[in-house]
Amino acid sequence: MPTLPTRIALLLAAATAVAIVAGVGGVGPATGDDEPAPEAVAGIKNVMNALNHEQDGFYGLIRGFCQANPGKDDEGWKLAQHRAIIMAEGGNMLMGMTPPKGADDDAGMRNWRTECAAFRDACKELRKALAFKNAEKVTAALTAVQARCDACHTAHRSQ
Ligand code: HEC
Repeated sequence: MPTLPTRIALLLAAATAVAIVAGVGGVGPATGDDEPAPEAVAGIKNVMNALNHEQDGFYGLIRGFCQANPGKDDEGWKLAQHRAIIMAEGGNMLMGMTPPKGADDDAGMRNWRTECAAFRDACKELRKALAFKNAEKVTAALTAVQARCDACHTAHRSQ
């Protein structure tokens, strides 16, 4: 049986070897060139029409659901929350894109990212309001989201 200090040293060496093999200590597990990786596919118009459109997007669907007095439609409230979260994720997606207006310099792009983040956060608040199933809270949150749509369009939408 090795002495105690030697056993500790052996344990440490073994742990280090395991860490090296597992790639621990880097930013994450090592990925080879052939590993699948996220790839940007959508553009701004895709996000607007699929998620944000006032009738057909998730935004329109959430608003329509709330305006129809859903009462205790638990599945509907849950679905509305899922949609609000994906709208928020849309804010993150937009952040990596370049708008057709107000993107000519660093200040413009900083403003764009600030608008994207404010929109994302407003959608997160909408998700919270939906969890309360409370018409007053939801109406306030929808109004706040609409304010983000308008502010961003004024600064960054060309037509
Ligand atoms: C962070 C900025 C930003 C936010 C927030 C935003 N939009 Fe937009 N939106 C844009 C830009 C930029 C365009 C123009 C895209 C282009 O012409 O390429 C656009 C275009 C649109 C279009 C036209 C799409 C088309 O096919 O031409 C609609 C509809 C729209 N937005 C609805 C909304 C609604 C509703 C909201 C809020 C729920 C919203 N947007 C939030 C930036 C934003």
